[in-house]
Amino acid sequence: MRVLVIGRGGREHAIVWALSKSPKISKLFCAPGNGGIAGLAECVPITELQFEEISTFAKEQAIDLVMVAPDDPLAAGLVDHLESKGIEAFGPRANAAIIEGSKVFMKELLKKYSIPTAAYESFDAYEPALAYLRSQSAPIVIKADGLAAGKGVTVAQTMEEAEAALRDIMVDQVFGKSGASVVIEEFLTGQEMSLLAFVDGSTVRLMVPSQDHKPVYDNDKGPNTGGMGTYSPLPHIPESIVQEALVKIVQPTADAMVKEGRPFKGVLYAGLILTPNGVKTIEFNARFGDPETQVILPRLKTDLLDIFLAINNGTLAEQPIEWSEEAAVCVIVASGGYPGPYPKGLPITGLNRVQDSLVFHAGTALENGQIVTNGGRVLGITGLGKDIIEARQKAYADADRIHFEGKHYRTDIAMKALK
Ligand code: AMP
Ligand code: GLY
Repeated sequence: MRVLVIGRGGREHAIVWALSKSPKISKLFCAPGNGGIAGLAECVPITELQFEEISTFAKEQAIDLVMVAPDDPLAAGLVDHLESKGIEAFGPRANAAIIEGSKVFMKELLKKYSIPTAAYESFDAYEPALAYLRSQSAPIVIKADGLAAGKGVTVAQTMEEAEAALRDIMVDQVFGKSGASVVIEEFLTGQEMSLLAFVDGSTVRLMVPSQDHKPVYDNDKGPNTGGMGTYSPLPHIPESIVQEALVKIVQPTADAMVKEGRPFKGVLYAGLILTPNGVKTIEFNARFGDPETQVILPRLKTDLLDIFLAINNGTLAEQPIEWSEEAAVCVIVASGGYPGPYPKGLPITGLNRVQDSLVFHAGTALENGQIVTNGGRVLGITGLGKDIIEARQKAYADADRIHFEGKHYRTDIAMKALK
């Protein structure tokens, strides 16, 4: 088969890496890809929202399957577009990807079907939102309705911070029309867990659980990022909690989407928080997580293409899916300044000295044969081992072998599992 993956980050590198092991694939393309993906797939200079260019390329190249990885093209209907041209695509249609694309939709769905989530109110005008906010107390959470590159959520510790976030979203419109509505939500505390599932309408098959680290600095200090590191499994979280999340949250959500006439086919990502009152939903994403994918796919023993095809054929229930017992830890190596402004184009050295880890490129480019930085999150170094301790050691040893000016990473990835 000839397969095209859409996207350019560490997640897409991990997906391309997993697909590259499939004996059924004769040719892999990635649009637009990055400096690391270029070693495994032919990178095509077409970007994620160039729908016409993507479908024309897929036709010309006789692509059998287009795998759409990122949120933006899913929410904007790339899968629908490809299907309308007779091209097979993997990922939810726009009417299902809305579970990530609109937090108001997601919250209303969960409320309607009594699926556990933080208490909230939503507003599409500033004055009533402000009046409601002033009736509440900090800490409190303010969320822009639409996609905002992971930056639309403020966990406000003070009312001043909360009011500033609301103003940014609704008055100054820093997220454009993604901020036309807001969700104001109860602050929850507890460990977070990313629970991803393969979903084909009503069949839900959980992947192995993982945990992300969103704040930029050690001990969860500093501003939120796209994710600074992940690990899997979560030895400190009992299997009974994972089952509770499946039975009370993930399966009912897939069923609710079917009932709403929006069957979800693809990867459904539940962002969960383990509160003293049970597991609750923080968010749903309509895609693989980044950097969760960089620890999940290295543990998958089954051919990923077979799973994608089973979802598209509606045979996910019969598809064998096997996971390895190994532990995986991914350390994100970021550009100096990230998540604020950062330089690009800095040469990366030491990639050839990496010993045991998988190096997934997130923000790199290949310039005249030299790999250079090209994003905030530059590389994800995934160590694999018999347990979290060994996987961590390998990931950090290799993260130290790689250099570029200003590089930084968190030193405490996976420590929550070891405390
Ligand atoms: P999201 O973009 O929805 O994943 O939110 C980003 C991060 O904000 C989450 O990973 C949580 O750490 C935090 N967060 C979101 N909603 C809440 C909430 N209701 N209570 C506490 N923390 C939250
Ligand atoms: N790691 C968080 C996300 O992919 O949304």
